[in-house]
Amino acid sequence: MYYIDNGEMVVLTKDNITIYNSKGEKIEKEKSVITWDMESATKAGYPHFMLKEINEQPQAVSDTLLRRIDKNNNLILDDIRLDEDEIQKIKDIYVVACGTAYNAGLIGKYIIENLANLRVRVDIASEFRYNKQFINENTLVILVSQSGETADTLAAQKLAKTKGCRILSITNVVGSSVARNSDDVFYTLAGPEIAVASTKAYTTMLVAFYMIGVELAKLKQEINIDEYHNIVEKLKKLPQKVKETLFVEKKCIEIAEKIKNSKSAFYIGRGLDDSVGKEGALKLKEISYIYTESFAAGELKHGTIALIEKNTPVIAVVTQDKLLDKTMSNIQEVKARGAYTIIITDKHIEDINNYADDVIQIPEVYDIFSSILAVIPAQFIAYYTSIKKGNDVDKPRNLAKSVTVE
Ligand code: M6R
Repeated sequence: MYYIDNGEMVVLTKDNITIYNSKGEKIEKEKSVITWDMESATKAGYPHFMLKEINEQPQAVSDTLLRRIDKNNNLILDDIRLDEDEIQKIKDIYVVACGTAYNAGLIGKYIIENLANLRVRVDIASEFRYNKQFINENTLVILVSQSGETADTLAAQKLAKTKGCRILSITNVVGSSVARNSDDVFYTLAGPEIAVASTKAYTTMLVAFYMIGVELAKLKQEINIDEYHNIVEKLKKLPQKVKETLFVEKKCIEIAEKIKNSKSAFYIGRGLDDSVGKEGALKLKEISYIYTESFAAGELKHGTIALIEKNTPVIAVVTQDKLLDKTMSNIQEVKARGAYTIIITDKHIEDINNYADDVIQIPEVYDIFSSILAVIPAQFIAYYTSIKKGNDVDKPRNLAKSVTVE
Protein backbone atom coordinates (compact mmCIF):
# COMPACT_ATOMS: atom_id res chain seq x y z
CA MET A 1 0.00 0.00 0.00
CA TYR A 2 1.13 3.57 -0.67
CA TYR A 3 -0.18 6.41 1.48
CA ILE A 4 -1.26 9.16 -0.94
CA ASP A 5 -1.24 12.73 0.38
CA ASN A 6 -3.55 15.55 -0.58
CA GLY A 7 -2.90 16.88 -4.05
CA GLU A 8 -0.91 13.82 -5.18
CA MET A 9 -2.03 11.79 -8.16
CA VAL A 10 -1.66 8.16 -9.09
CA VAL A 11 -1.75 6.59 -12.51
CA LEU A 12 -2.52 2.90 -12.36
CA THR A 13 -1.95 0.67 -15.37
CA LYS A 14 -1.93 -3.09 -15.68
CA ASP A 15 1.81 -3.20 -15.00
CA ASN A 16 2.70 0.04 -13.24
CA ILE A 17 1.88 2.43 -10.45
CA THR A 18 3.19 5.96 -11.08
CA ILE A 19 2.75 8.65 -8.44
CA TYR A 20 2.92 12.42 -9.07
CA ASN A 21 3.02 15.40 -6.73
CA SER A 22 0.72 18.39 -7.08
CA LYS A 23 3.13 19.96 -9.61
CA GLY A 24 2.89 16.94 -11.83
CA GLU A 25 6.40 15.71 -11.00
CA LYS A 26 7.01 12.00 -10.65
CA ILE A 27 7.79 11.00 -7.05
CA GLU A 28 8.83 7.83 -5.21
CA LYS A 29 6.83 6.75 -2.21
CA GLU A 30 7.60 4.28 0.51
CA LYS A 31 5.66 1.07 0.20
CA SER A 32 3.81 -0.21 3.33
CA VAL A 33 2.77 -3.80 3.83
CA ILE A 34 -0.59 -4.50 5.45
CA THR A 35 -0.40 -7.57 7.61
CA TRP A 36 -4.13 -7.81 8.39
CA ASP A 37 -6.82 -8.69 5.93
CA MET A 38 -10.03 -6.82 5.30
CA GLU A 39 -12.05 -9.46 7.10
CA SER A 40 -10.13 -9.27 10.34
CA ALA A 41 -10.50 -5.49 10.29
CA THR A 42 -14.23 -5.82 10.50
CA LYS A 43 -14.02 -8.42 13.25
CA ALA A 44 -12.98 -5.58 15.54
CA GLY A 45 -10.17 -7.61 17.06
CA TYR A 46 -12.23 -10.76 17.66
CA PRO A 47 -10.92 -13.97 16.10
CA HIS A 48 -14.33 -14.77 14.59
CA PHE A 49 -17.50 -12.95 13.67
CA MET A 50 -19.52 -15.32 15.83
CA LEU A 51 -17.63 -14.38 19.00
CA LYS A 52 -17.92 -10.71 18.11
CA GLU A 53 -21.64 -11.08 17.52
CA ILE A 54 -22.20 -12.93 20.81
CA ASN A 55 -20.46 -10.06 22.58
CA GLU A 56 -22.49 -7.47 20.69
CA GLN A 57 -25.74 -8.76 22.20
CA PRO A 58 -26.03 -6.25 25.05
CA GLN A 59 -25.87 -3.45 22.48
CA ALA A 60 -28.14 -5.18 19.97
CA VAL A 61 -30.75 -5.90 22.64
CA SER A 62 -30.51 -2.37 23.95
CA ASP A 63 -30.87 -0.83 20.47
CA THR A 64 -33.86 -3.00 19.61
CA LEU A 65 -35.59 -2.45 22.95
CA LEU A 66 -34.78 0.88 24.54
CA ARG A 67 -35.41 3.00 21.47
CA ARG A 68 -38.98 1.77 21.57
CA ILE A 69 -39.72 2.70 25.19
CA ASP A 70 -40.63 6.23 26.22
CA LYS A 71 -39.84 7.84 29.55
CA ASN A 72 -43.25 6.87 30.98
CA ASN A 73 -42.66 3.19 30.32
CA ASN A 74 -44.88 2.99 27.25
CA LEU A 75 -43.83 0.89 24.27
CA ILE A 76 -43.59 2.88 21.06
CA LEU A 77 -44.59 0.26 18.55
CA ASP A 78 -45.24 2.14 15.34
CA ASP A 79 -44.26 -1.17 13.76
CA ILE A 80 -47.52 -2.92 14.64
CA ARG A 81 -50.22 -0.52 13.58
CA LEU A 82 -53.04 -2.34 15.32
CA ASP A 83 -55.64 -0.59 17.42
CA GLU A 84 -58.03 -2.09 19.94
CA ASP A 85 -60.78 -2.63 17.34
CA GLU A 86 -58.52 -4.39 14.88
CA ILE A 87 -57.04 -6.60 17.55
CA GLN A 88 -60.50 -7.88 18.45
CA LYS A 89 -60.82 -9.15 14.86
CA ILE A 90 -57.71 -11.30 15.13
CA LYS A 91 -58.71 -14.82 16.01
CA ASP A 92 -55.45 -16.64 15.37
CA ILE A 93 -51.78 -15.91 15.00
CA TYR A 94 -49.47 -17.99 12.82
CA VAL A 95 -45.72 -17.60 13.26
CA VAL A 96 -43.81 -18.83 10.22
CA ALA A 97 -40.02 -19.08 9.98
CA CYS A 98 -36.98 -21.35 9.49
CA GLY A 99 -34.10 -22.51 11.71
CA THR A 100 -33.14 -20.12 14.44
CA ALA A 101 -35.98 -17.76 13.50
CA TYR A 102 -38.41 -20.69 13.97
CA ASN A 103 -36.89 -21.36 17.40
CA ALA A 104 -37.46 -17.71 18.29
CA GLY A 105 -41.05 -18.18 17.12
CA LEU A 106 -41.54 -20.98 19.68
CA ILE A 107 -40.67 -18.53 22.43
CA GLY A 108 -42.95 -15.96 20.75
CA LYS A 109 -45.85 -18.42 20.91
CA TYR A 110 -45.43 -18.88 24.65
CA ILE A 111 -45.16 -15.14 25.25
CA ILE A 112 -48.17 -14.13 23.16
CA GLU A 113 -50.38 -16.98 24.39
CA ASN A 114 -49.58 -16.36 28.03
CA LEU A 115 -49.62 -12.57 28.00
CA ALA A 116 -52.24 -11.76 25.36
CA ASN A 117 -54.36 -14.90 25.62
CA LEU A 118 -54.33 -15.38 21.83
CA ARG A 119 -53.97 -18.75 20.13
CA VAL A 120 -50.65 -19.05 18.28
CA ARG A 121 -49.47 -21.75 15.90
CA VAL A 122 -45.81 -21.93 14.84
CA ASP A 123 -45.07 -23.42 11.42
CA ILE A 124 -41.78 -24.26 9.77
CA ALA A 125 -41.85 -22.13 6.62
CA SER A 126 -40.93 -25.00 4.30
CA GLU A 127 -43.95 -26.96 5.62
CA PHE A 128 -46.42 -24.12 5.76
CA ARG A 129 -47.78 -24.45 2.24
CA TYR A 130 -48.25 -28.21 2.57
CA ASN A 131 -49.91 -28.18 6.00
CA LYS A 132 -53.65 -27.80 6.42
CA GLN A 133 -54.17 -24.10 6.94
CA PHE A 134 -56.92 -22.30 8.82
CA ILE A 135 -56.00 -18.81 7.71
CA ASN A 136 -58.12 -15.91 6.51
CA GLU A 137 -58.52 -12.16 6.95
CA ASN A 138 -58.84 -12.71 10.72
CA THR A 139 -55.39 -14.27 10.94
CA LEU A 140 -52.25 -12.37 11.82
CA VAL A 141 -49.22 -14.03 10.23
CA ILE A 142 -45.93 -13.15 11.86
CA LEU A 143 -42.99 -13.93 9.57
CA VAL A 144 -39.59 -14.07 11.23
CA SER A 145 -36.40 -13.84 9.19
CA GLN A 146 -33.05 -12.28 9.99
CA SER A 147 -32.13 -11.82 6.35
CA GLY A 148 -35.64 -11.28 5.05
CA GLU A 149 -34.60 -13.26 1.97
CA THR A 150 -35.22 -16.89 2.94
CA ALA A 151 -36.98 -18.56 0.03
CA ASP A 152 -39.31 -20.76 2.12
CA THR A 153 -40.41 -17.81 4.23
CA LEU A 154 -41.09 -15.76 1.11
CA ALA A 155 -43.18 -18.57 -0.36
CA ALA A 156 -45.22 -18.76 2.85
CA GLN A 157 -45.70 -15.00 2.70
CA LYS A 158 -47.04 -15.24 -0.83
CA LEU A 159 -49.63 -17.83 0.23
CA ALA A 160 -50.69 -15.87 3.32
CA LYS A 161 -51.22 -12.77 1.19
CA THR A 162 -53.50 -14.59 -1.21
CA LYS A 163 -55.67 -15.62 1.77
CA GLY A 164 -55.99 -12.01 2.93
CA CYS A 165 -54.05 -12.41 6.19
CA ARG A 166 -52.52 -9.43 7.85
CA ILE A 167 -48.72 -9.80 7.73
CA LEU A 168 -46.32 -8.56 10.35
CA SER A 169 -42.67 -9.37 9.78
CA ILE A 170 -39.76 -9.38 12.18
CA THR A 171 -36.52 -8.92 10.28
CA ASN A 172 -33.07 -7.45 10.65
CA VAL A 173 -32.62 -6.19 7.11
CA VAL A 174 -34.23 -2.94 6.11
CA GLY A 175 -35.93 -3.13 2.73
CA SER A 176 -35.51 -6.91 2.46
CA SER A 177 -38.02 -8.89 0.37
CA VAL A 178 -39.97 -10.07 3.44
CA ALA A 179 -40.15 -6.51 4.76
CA ARG A 180 -41.25 -5.02 1.44
CA ASN A 181 -44.22 -7.38 1.18
CA SER A 182 -45.53 -7.02 4.75
CA ASP A 183 -48.27 -4.82 6.17
CA ASP A 184 -46.13 -4.01 9.18
CA VAL A 185 -42.45 -4.56 9.95
CA PHE A 186 -40.69 -4.81 13.28
CA TYR A 187 -37.02 -4.22 12.55
CA THR A 188 -34.58 -5.80 14.97
CA LEU A 189 -31.63 -3.46 15.32
CA ALA A 190 -28.94 -6.10 15.66
CA GLY A 191 -26.60 -4.71 13.01
CA PRO A 192 -25.15 -6.97 10.32
CA GLU A 193 -24.84 -10.61 11.32
CA ILE A 194 -22.10 -12.28 9.32
CA ALA A 195 -21.42 -15.61 11.06
CA VAL A 196 -23.62 -18.36 9.65
CA ALA A 197 -24.61 -19.38 13.18
CA SER A 198 -27.16 -16.87 14.29
CA THR A 199 -26.73 -15.31 17.75
CA LYS A 200 -27.65 -11.65 18.10
CA ALA A 201 -30.40 -12.03 15.53
CA TYR A 202 -32.05 -14.63 17.79
CA THR A 203 -31.88 -12.57 20.97
CA THR A 204 -33.23 -9.48 19.22
CA MET A 205 -36.06 -11.56 17.74
CA LEU A 206 -36.95 -12.52 21.31
CA VAL A 207 -37.02 -8.83 22.21
CA ALA A 208 -39.43 -8.28 19.32
CA PHE A 209 -41.73 -11.04 20.59
CA TYR A 210 -41.56 -9.78 24.16
CA MET A 211 -42.61 -6.31 23.03
CA ILE A 212 -45.32 -7.52 20.66
CA GLY A 213 -46.70 -9.86 23.37
CA VAL A 214 -46.86 -7.09 25.96
CA GLU A 215 -48.46 -4.65 23.50
CA LEU A 216 -51.08 -7.17 22.37
CA ALA A 217 -51.87 -7.96 26.01
CA LYS A 218 -52.50 -4.27 26.63
CA LEU A 219 -54.60 -3.83 23.49
CA LYS A 220 -56.66 -6.88 24.39
CA GLN A 221 -57.01 -5.63 27.96
CA GLU A 222 -55.55 -8.82 29.32
CA ILE A 223 -53.36 -6.69 31.58
CA ASN A 224 -54.21 -3.35 33.17
CA ILE A 225 -52.09 -0.26 32.71
CA ASP A 226 -50.17 -0.75 35.97
CA GLU A 227 -49.28 -4.31 35.05
CA TYR A 228 -48.25 -3.07 31.61
CA HIS A 229 -45.86 -0.46 33.02
CA ASN A 230 -44.55 -2.98 35.48
CA ILE A 231 -43.67 -5.48 32.74
CA VAL A 232 -42.07 -2.74 30.61
CA GLU A 233 -39.93 -1.84 33.61
CA LYS A 234 -38.78 -5.47 33.74
CA LEU A 235 -38.04 -5.43 30.00
CA LYS A 236 -35.82 -2.39 30.42
CA LYS A 237 -33.48 -4.38 32.65
CA LEU A 238 -32.68 -6.91 29.94
CA PRO A 239 -29.70 -5.21 28.18
CA GLN A 240 -27.79 -4.97 31.46
CA LYS A 241 -28.67 -8.58 32.36
CA VAL A 242 -27.50 -9.77 28.92
CA LYS A 243 -24.21 -8.00 29.56
CA GLU A 244 -23.82 -9.67 32.96
CA THR A 245 -24.51 -13.07 31.39
CA LEU A 246 -21.42 -12.77 29.16
CA PHE A 247 -19.38 -13.65 32.24
CA VAL A 248 -20.34 -17.31 31.75
CA GLU A 249 -17.78 -17.51 28.93
CA LYS A 250 -14.96 -18.96 31.05
CA LYS A 251 -17.15 -21.76 32.42
CA CYS A 252 -18.35 -22.57 28.88
CA ILE A 253 -14.73 -22.94 27.68
CA GLU A 254 -14.18 -25.61 30.36
CA ILE A 255 -17.37 -27.40 29.31
CA ALA A 256 -16.40 -27.27 25.63
CA GLU A 257 -13.15 -29.03 26.50
CA LYS A 258 -15.11 -31.82 28.19
CA ILE A 259 -17.63 -32.38 25.39
CA LYS A 260 -15.50 -31.82 22.28
CA ASN A 261 -14.99 -35.54 21.65
CA SER A 262 -18.57 -36.62 22.33
CA LYS A 263 -20.41 -38.24 19.47
CA SER A 264 -23.80 -36.94 20.58
CA ALA A 265 -25.27 -34.48 23.06
CA PHE A 266 -28.72 -33.50 24.35
CA TYR A 267 -30.53 -30.46 25.58
CA ILE A 268 -33.51 -30.93 27.89
CA GLY A 269 -36.01 -28.54 29.45
CA ARG A 270 -39.69 -27.87 29.89
CA GLY A 271 -41.85 -25.10 28.46
CA LEU A 272 -39.75 -22.08 27.50
CA ASP A 273 -36.63 -24.00 28.53
CA ASP A 274 -37.41 -26.69 25.98
CA SER A 275 -37.56 -24.01 23.27
CA VAL A 276 -34.23 -22.52 24.35
CA GLY A 277 -32.81 -26.04 24.25
CA LYS A 278 -33.89 -26.33 20.62
CA GLU A 279 -31.83 -23.27 19.76
CA GLY A 280 -28.91 -24.55 21.87
CA ALA A 281 -28.98 -27.87 20.02
CA LEU A 282 -29.08 -26.19 16.61
CA LYS A 283 -26.08 -24.02 17.54
CA LEU A 284 -24.04 -26.94 18.81
CA LYS A 285 -24.74 -29.26 15.88
CA GLU A 286 -24.27 -26.71 13.10
CA ILE A 287 -20.78 -25.59 14.11
CA SER A 288 -19.32 -28.42 16.20
CA TYR A 289 -20.82 -31.21 14.03
CA ILE A 290 -21.70 -33.13 17.20
CA TYR A 291 -25.09 -34.76 16.74
CA THR A 292 -27.27 -32.83 19.18
CA GLU A 293 -30.96 -33.13 19.89
CA SER A 294 -33.24 -31.28 22.19
CA PHE A 295 -36.13 -32.84 24.06
CA ALA A 296 -38.94 -31.81 26.30
CA ALA A 297 -37.54 -33.26 29.52
CA GLY A 298 -40.67 -35.31 30.18
CA GLU A 299 -40.29 -37.07 26.83
CA LEU A 300 -36.93 -38.61 27.73
CA LYS A 301 -38.32 -41.74 29.26
CA HIS A 302 -40.53 -42.32 26.25
CA GLY A 303 -37.54 -43.30 24.14
CA THR A 304 -34.55 -41.01 24.10
CA ILE A 305 -33.17 -42.09 27.43
CA ALA A 306 -32.03 -45.28 25.68
CA LEU A 307 -29.32 -43.18 24.03
CA ILE A 308 -27.75 -42.02 27.28
CA GLU A 309 -24.39 -43.65 27.89
CA LYS A 310 -21.54 -42.94 30.26
CA ASN A 311 -20.42 -39.31 29.73
CA THR A 312 -23.10 -38.38 27.19
CA PRO A 313 -23.45 -34.62 27.68
CA VAL A 314 -26.96 -33.59 28.75
CA ILE A 315 -27.46 -29.86 29.09
CA ALA A 316 -30.57 -28.94 31.09
CA VAL A 317 -32.10 -25.49 31.01
CA VAL A 318 -33.90 -24.72 34.28
CA THR A 319 -35.40 -21.24 34.56
CA GLN A 320 -39.10 -21.78 35.14
CA ASP A 321 -40.11 -21.87 38.80
CA LYS A 322 -43.26 -23.90 38.27
CA LEU A 323 -41.40 -26.63 36.33
CA LEU A 324 -38.23 -26.76 38.38
CA ASP A 325 -38.90 -29.87 40.45
CA LYS A 326 -40.06 -31.87 37.45
CA THR A 327 -36.98 -31.03 35.36
CA MET A 328 -34.64 -31.72 38.28
CA SER A 329 -36.08 -35.19 38.58
CA ASN A 330 -35.47 -35.76 34.82
CA ILE A 331 -31.86 -34.66 35.30
CA GLN A 332 -31.53 -37.20 38.08
CA GLU A 333 -32.77 -39.92 35.71
CA VAL A 334 -30.05 -39.24 33.14
CA LYS A 335 -27.35 -38.76 35.76
CA ALA A 336 -28.19 -42.17 37.19
CA ARG A 337 -27.44 -43.59 33.73
CA GLY A 338 -23.99 -42.03 33.58
CA ALA A 339 -24.68 -38.79 31.69
CA TYR A 340 -22.38 -35.82 32.10
CA THR A 341 -24.95 -33.27 33.32
CA ILE A 342 -24.72 -29.52 32.90
CA ILE A 343 -27.40 -27.19 34.30
CA ILE A 344 -28.01 -23.69 32.97
CA THR A 345 -30.10 -21.90 35.59
CA ASP A 346 -30.96 -18.57 37.12
CA LYS A 347 -32.28 -20.21 40.28
CA HIS A 348 -30.31 -20.87 43.42
CA ILE A 349 -30.97 -24.55 43.83
CA GLU A 350 -29.78 -25.81 47.18
CA ASP A 351 -28.47 -29.29 46.42
CA ILE A 352 -27.70 -28.60 42.76
CA ASN A 353 -24.37 -30.43 42.87
CA ASN A 354 -26.23 -33.69 43.47
CA TYR A 355 -27.77 -33.25 40.04
CA ALA A 356 -25.17 -31.39 38.01
CA ASP A 357 -21.57 -32.11 37.16
CA ASP A 358 -21.29 -28.49 36.04
CA VAL A 359 -23.52 -25.52 36.74
CA ILE A 360 -23.78 -22.37 34.65
CA GLN A 361 -25.36 -19.71 36.81
CA ILE A 362 -27.02 -16.88 34.91
CA PRO A 363 -28.64 -13.71 36.32
CA GLU A 364 -32.25 -13.94 37.43
CA VAL A 365 -34.92 -12.02 35.53
CA TYR A 366 -38.70 -12.12 35.30
CA ASP A 367 -39.43 -15.81 34.51
CA ILE A 368 -40.98 -15.29 31.07
CA PHE A 369 -37.95 -13.29 29.83
CA SER A 370 -35.31 -15.78 31.02
CA SER A 371 -34.75 -17.39 27.59
CA ILE A 372 -32.83 -14.40 26.29
CA LEU A 373 -30.18 -15.04 28.94
CA ALA A 374 -30.28 -18.84 28.97
CA VAL A 375 -29.32 -19.04 25.31
CA ILE A 376 -26.03 -17.19 25.82
CA PRO A 377 -24.17 -20.08 27.50
CA ALA A 378 -25.47 -22.35 24.72
CA GLN A 379 -23.93 -20.00 22.14
CA PHE A 380 -20.58 -19.95 23.96
CA ILE A 381 -20.54 -23.74 24.39
CA ALA A 382 -21.17 -24.20 20.66
CA TYR A 383 -18.53 -21.63 19.70
CA TYR A 384 -15.75 -23.04 21.90
CA THR A 385 -16.52 -26.66 21.07
CA SER A 386 -16.22 -25.81 17.39
CA ILE A 387 -12.93 -23.95 17.97
CA LYS A 388 -11.48 -26.83 19.95
CA LYS A 389 -12.36 -29.20 17.11
CA GLY A 390 -10.60 -26.96 14.60
CA ASN A 391 -13.76 -26.26 12.61
CA ASP A 392 -14.46 -23.22 10.48
CA VAL A 393 -16.73 -21.51 13.02
CA ASP A 394 -18.02 -18.68 10.88
CA LYS A 395 -18.59 -20.77 7.77
CA PRO A 396 -19.59 -24.28 8.82
CA ARG A 397 -19.58 -26.95 6.16
CA ASN A 398 -22.58 -27.29 3.83
CA LEU A 399 -24.29 -24.15 5.15
CA ALA A 400 -24.97 -20.68 3.78
CA LYS A 401 -25.92 -17.55 5.68
CA SER A 402 -28.95 -16.84 3.59
CA VAL A 403 -30.93 -19.74 2.15
CA THR A 404 -32.42 -18.35 -1.05
CA VAL A 405 -33.45 -21.70 -2.55
CA GLU A 406 -36.34 -23.88 -1.42
O1 M6R B 1 -32.46 -15.27 7.50
P1 M6R B 1 -33.40 -16.23 8.21
O2 M6R B 1 -33.63 -15.81 9.63
O3 M6R B 1 -34.69 -16.40 7.48
O4 M6R B 1 -32.65 -17.60 8.21
C1 M6R B 1 -33.31 -18.75 8.67
C2 M6R B 1 -32.32 -19.87 8.94
O5 M6R B 1 -31.69 -20.25 7.77
C3 M6R B 1 -31.27 -19.46 9.99
O6 M6R B 1 -31.88 -19.02 11.15
C4 M6R B 1 -30.33 -20.63 10.32
O7 M6R B 1 -31.05 -21.65 10.95
C5 M6R B 1 -29.21 -20.12 11.22
N1 M6R B 1 -28.07 -19.84 10.46
C6 M6R B 1 -28.83 -21.05 12.31
O8 M6R B 1 -27.87 -20.50 13.14
